[in-house]
Amino acid sequence: MDTQSPPPPAKTPLHGIFQSLEICVDVISNHWKHPAMFSKGQLIEIDIADAAEEQKWFGQMPDGLAVFVSGPAAVGDRVEAEIFKIKKNYLEARLRRVITPSPERVAPRCAHFGTCGGCKLQHIEYTAQLRMKRKLVADALAHIGGFAGVEVAETAGAPDPFHYRNKVEFSFGDARYLLDEERELALEQLAKPRDYALGFHAANVFSKVLDIDRCHIATEEMNIALATAKKFFRDRGTSVNSTFTHEGFLRNLVLRHAAFSGELMAYLVTSSHDEPLMSAFLETLRAALGDKLTTFVNGVTQRKNSVAFAETLITVFGPGFITEQLGRLRFAISPNSFFQTNSRQALRLYEIARDFAALKPDDVLHDLYCGTGSIGIFCADACRRVIGFEIEAGSIRDAQANAKLNEITNAEFHQIDMKHFATSLATVERPEVIITDPPRAGMHEKAVEALRNLAPRKIVYVSCNPASLARDAAALCAGGAFRLARVQPVDLFPHTCHIESVAEIIRGN
Ligand SMILES: C[S@@+](CC[C@H](N)C(=O)[O-])C[C@H]1O[C@@H](n2cnc3c(N)ncnc32)[C@H](O)[C@@H]1O
Repeated sequence: MDTQSPPPPAKTPLHGIFQSLEICVDVISNHWKHPAMFSKGQLIEIDIADAAEEQKWFGQMPDGLAVFVSGPAAVGDRVEAEIFKIKKNYLEARLRRVITPSPERVAPRCAHFGTCGGCKLQHIEYTAQLRMKRKLVADALAHIGGFAGVEVAETAGAPDPFHYRNKVEFSFGDARYLLDEERELALEQLAKPRDYALGFHAANVFSKVLDIDRCHIATEEMNIALATAKKFFRDRGTSVNSTFTHEGFLRNLVLRHAAFSGELMAYLVTSSHDEPLMSAFLETLRAALGDKLTTFVNGVTQRKNSVAFAETLITVFGPGFITEQLGRLRFAISPNSFFQTNSRQALRLYEIARDFAALKPDDVLHDLYCGTGSIGIFCADACRRVIGFEIEAGSIRDAQANAKLNEITNAEFHQIDMKHFATSLATVERPEVIITDPPRAGMHEKAVEALRNLAPRKIVYVSCNPASLARDAAALCAGGAFRLARVQPVDLFPHTCHIESVAEIIRGN
């Protein structure tokens, strides 16, 4: 089945769904050139026709001029928007008011919707989100990769689009992000203190923390731990680490809750270790969560950034890690280690990747950008040998430990920069099948070239960015050495604009 047209040459590095708004506009409406009659601050009415890159929405003026609208709009809305940028062939505007709501709209469940940057699509019905994400993948493949008519399946949606995260990172803040309605109030009129918060860093105001009462994509137990920690430290007046002076005790509260095994970790990152305080906090957490809490770790760091990571780990309770079960495999997750944040959908993603790989018992599989080795380990019983490649030494150690935990003896992991993949091939067995799962930026062009030269029977490309998937698939398929057979989008992050895809790329045409 030939489902593609010949792809164009690969383009330069990409930032988002499209290479830039200009490319998006060239694709959609390149006939409009002179928006001279518009001015900044002007209000326009516009029908939202499509989702665009960088969480913007696309519409056109009656004469065809493209408009990108920022804010919580939806396909099918008629909105009033305020122009803030005038470019040669498009306008950018901010949503001011919904005139006629789209039938795809629903009431957002979260009280923090619109302020917290996390769930930008919670106002859109979930099946409409899935349709929208499939279209984003298909559009990127067509417009960036030149793949017209490639088979893009319906997005594999999450059974429960809420409570799906197995990891949430909250930050303590000594400057609470004030809501619009709070800005004019005097200190004593505020329902919450101004100088204490536990929640998420406010979008675009990194020094402030939006205090979160309840996160609907976290589990119930995570929300109990959040409320317990917030009250415990506020009651004691414990100091919060400042992003300016870097002084103060409390930094982050990371909660990891394995969906299949049910194990729950609280990981509190502080600037020093206070043993009596940590014991008292553990008592309070256990009183709130009972046996559900399986481990508590205090991480200590004096880093100047606010990343939830600590070099020194003190296990206050339990084994110091949790174990998650994906199918018949188990994965140990320690406080700082990487693990896909939606266990149920990660299992689905891995099952699809293994299905697309269609391994034969004698095959050698290369697992590129393997992280903690989960995809390779997941496929190990279907082939003769798995060889994983990854840049991070810590992830390689986790991958080796995960293989051992599951008594997998035919998997090995190599620490390399994929830029140098071609050189590494001198010392490893050649693959029949390659699974590649690069970061958002996609694969380094030298890695793509190495894959073309290796000419495996099949490449399964797992992607978290449709734009870089489209670019790399086009480079792999250029000249007809490979063809893009099918693409399956998988929703690991409901209510956000992120979408994972699994692409099957077959040698020959
Ligand atoms: C999307 S994650 C893949 C995770 C993994 N497949 C899994 O499911 O657990 C991308 C991985 O690529 C690794 N990485 C990023 N740049 C790399 C490079 N230049 N060479 C090798 N690995 C790289 C990251 O450390 C990360 O583990």
